[in-house]
Amino acid sequence: MSPKKAFVTTPIYYVNDIPHIGHAYTTIIADTMARYYRLKGYDTFFLTGTDEHGQKIEEAAKSRNRTPSEYADEISGKFKSLWDEFDISYDKFIRTTDAEHKLGVQKAFEVMFDNGDIYKGSYEGHYCVSCETFFTDIQLIDENLCPDCGKETRVVKEESYFFRLSNYQEKLLNWYNDDEKCVLPKGKKNEVISFVKQGLRDLSITRTSFDWGIKLPPKMNDNKHVMYVWLDALLNYITALGYGTDEKNMKYWPATVQLVGKDILRFHAIYWPAFLMSLGLPLPKHVAAHGWWTRNGEKMSKSKGNVVDPKEVADAYGLENFRYFLLREVPFGQDGDFSQKALIDRINSDLSNELGNLLNRIIGMSSKYSNFSISSKDVLSYHKKELLTAIEHLKMAETNLNELQTNRFLEELWKALTIANQSITIYEPWVKIKNNEKDFALATVAMVANILAKVSILLHPIMPKTTSKIAETLNFDISNNSYIRFIEDNDLLDDFIIQKVPPLFPKIEAELLVTPEPSIKNEKNEKVEVDSLITIDQFFQTKLRIGTIIEAEEVPKSKKLLRLQVDLGDEKPRQIVAGIKEYYNPESLVNTQICVVANLKPAKIMGLVSEGMLLAAKDENGLSLVRPEKNRQNGSSVG
Ligand code: MSP
Repeated sequence: MSPKKAFVTTPIYYVNDIPHIGHAYTTIIADTMARYYRLKGYDTFFLTGTDEHGQKIEEAAKSRNRTPSEYADEISGKFKSLWDEFDISYDKFIRTTDAEHKLGVQKAFEVMFDNGDIYKGSYEGHYCVSCETFFTDIQLIDENLCPDCGKETRVVKEESYFFRLSNYQEKLLNWYNDDEKCVLPKGKKNEVISFVKQGLRDLSITRTSFDWGIKLPPKMNDNKHVMYVWLDALLNYITALGYGTDEKNMKYWPATVQLVGKDILRFHAIYWPAFLMSLGLPLPKHVAAHGWWTRNGEKMSKSKGNVVDPKEVADAYGLENFRYFLLREVPFGQDGDFSQKALIDRINSDLSNELGNLLNRIIGMSSKYSNFSISSKDVLSYHKKELLTAIEHLKMAETNLNELQTNRFLEELWKALTIANQSITIYEPWVKIKNNEKDFALATVAMVANILAKVSILLHPIMPKTTSKIAETLNFDISNNSYIRFIEDNDLLDDFIIQKVPPLFPKIEAELLVTPEPSIKNEKNEKVEVDSLITIDQFFQTKLRIGTIIEAEEVPKSKKLLRLQVDLGDEKPRQIVAGIKEYYNPESLVNTQICVVANLKPAKIMGLVSEGMLLAAKDENGLSLVRPEKNRQNGSSVG
């Protein structure tokens, strides 16, 4: 029998913006699902990539004096290298500028045209370039603002080809009705259904007022038009499998899970299945929409300067800790607020106290009672009940994961860990040893080791490296074989000798990142967020002073940090720990002046006290320290 197949996709990311936490979230959930299917032995294909055509990209490139293609190359490269650094296990990274993709899109256009689903007409209405979406008058806010992003729409009047979306209304409603889990979660599916029930209008699928897009198939003999960017983009999910060119990977279609953010669900749960029906292809099994990450309850945006950089977070707190946090912190489908405090709490309580500590207790007890050897021989005689209850939680966990409820999945795994941790407290193996009940004590240790082993297998898709270390300690490998043995068949670990490992989750004492604060001007130099304006008194609460760096050295084991001694004119120099190592050589900093926030509460960073913060400006080209134009006395105030 050939193995089951799985096809997992992320949205393809626009290249007008560098990757942020929202992109990382979608990609990490998709990566988790792909790893989970591989663990179960499915023949899995995982697709991600970049969406590079359209007016928005053309304009973004122009404003930077670049050609769209140069600009797309640069930003697409940033996404790809971030996913590589994050160990995202994609099988293909598609770019919509790839030659095969263009051919596939043209082929799809022809098929839809030939079966009567495309006709030529003219479009008159409003277009939001930022969302690349057409809107009718009644959808707009205040007559011309986009209902999705609030930006101004443009009036567009042009010849256009249309897709007969209106013909698919009933068929779409039947799909939602017949396939309960086709759109997840349920609440989002209901929103889609009510939208479709209001009636679907035909969709304009070509544009004539700009160039940066895929031309119509040569057969159409109509050179004025380029494809509407959403038609082009959605088709990536099949052109990446070779649709219209080399179709050997089309065996992976239909997709098992298509992950999207809630803002683009309409495109994926309405337009996309309609296009697929028109092409005569089966529909995806699950289109799953997640919520948005906010910062202090607000939408993140470049203009507010409050965007969370996923690489900074992963570098500071550990990639796998960050993956765990993202998937554990918010119920799938709902919005979540990012804060370092919440992340630190998760690391210190869930990971360090509950998971890491369980492993340490197993190592500690086995070293004292049995010279590190563990045997499962008496587990079922003494601890069948605990083991079976833990296994029930693991089953629940998998049911949740299959519906993308990653937070509930993790909650169930943690319930199994709680059974293990509580069993140690309840049965007190150290007392049993004293009372000459060594078999019981050793069975308790083995039972909790078995629970930890099973949890590690299921946690592997989220924390691959950490769980592999746990498995090494418990003398097994995480693979499809161990999944079958220990999860499907509920087998117990063979007798083994434990390997000692250093603690997996050292506690974090203080925030490790400087929090970006909202700025008050946007890119066009317009004021935003008037509420965040401050008074002069508030400004002077921050004591900015000039100082000279008298010593600078690298912080051992840190990729980013330098330790500086800065003379601020006080008796003693100040120690400042700053994340500037990637940009400055320590020697080059000595005897140069900088600007320092001098009244910041001291904080510990990687065990070192930092007694201030230096000022620096950062953009996509690098970082630059803020310095006085001419040397000033150390300690002079800035303002
Ligand atoms: N190019 C389109 C997708 C085409 S797929 C055929 C697009 N790109 S995007 O780069 O703007 O967004 C990609 C994904 O990132 C979307 O799923 C979106 O929901 C997600 N996120 C963008 N900001 C986000 C947050 N702040 N939080 C969570 N996800 C968010 O749309």
